[in-house]
Amino acid sequence: MDSAHLGDDLDHVLYTQEQIHARLEELGKEIWADYHDKEVLLVGVLKGAVLVMADLMRALPGTVTMDWMAVSSYGSGTKSSGVVRILKDLDTDISNRHVLIVEDIIDSGLTLNWIRSNLLSRNPASLEICTLLRKPEAAKVEIDCKYVGFEIPNEFVVGYGLDFDEKYRNLRDIGVLAPHMYS
Ligand code: XMP
Ligand code: MG
Repeated sequence: MDSAHLGDDLDHVLYTQEQIHARLEELGKEIWADYHDKEVLLVGVLKGAVLVMADLMRALPGTVTMDWMAVSSYGSGTKSSGVVRILKDLDTDISNRHVLIVEDIIDSGLTLNWIRSNLLSRNPASLEICTLLRKPEAAKVEIDCKYVGFEIPNEFVVGYGLDFDEKYRNLRDIGVLAPHMYS
């Protein structure tokens, strides 16, 4: 779906699909420089990271493997609480594996902080994080994230896998949702 089809649901486009793809190609090069001599397992967080994973993994010039986790953050509306429940666990035993978490967005950081400690308790050989978007002003906990696509303002964004009420994930661009959509 193109932004033009959305009428006034979007306030404005933040990144076009071309900008997103170009940035993921760059991140792919950075990541490969660090992992070319290791077997990396990419761990995506459902559902938001589906499109980031699809494009990032194809930007990597060698063999990688992939697994998925689904979690729910208890919390109201558009805010996460940091109390997390696993809805779908990994199929892979990650002990002694080089794990790279692939995320769509770090907002408060609470969800990813929980996932990070949970995966660390399984004794991976290494654990790093790649996120397409990060909202520095929204951080409630500092997360050491090695690969960041774009730092964005503290506004609710949709598209490219990111949803509002499960909608807009299939929008090609990333845009700021118009405030009238959720008030
Ligand atoms: P935090 O870092 O606050 O974020 O624990 C948890 C999850 O909330 C979702 N999220 C968003 N989804 N637009 C979205 O569509 C946003 O601006 C946004 N901020 C947070 C996302 O799934 C993230 O993993
Ligand atoms: Mg997410």
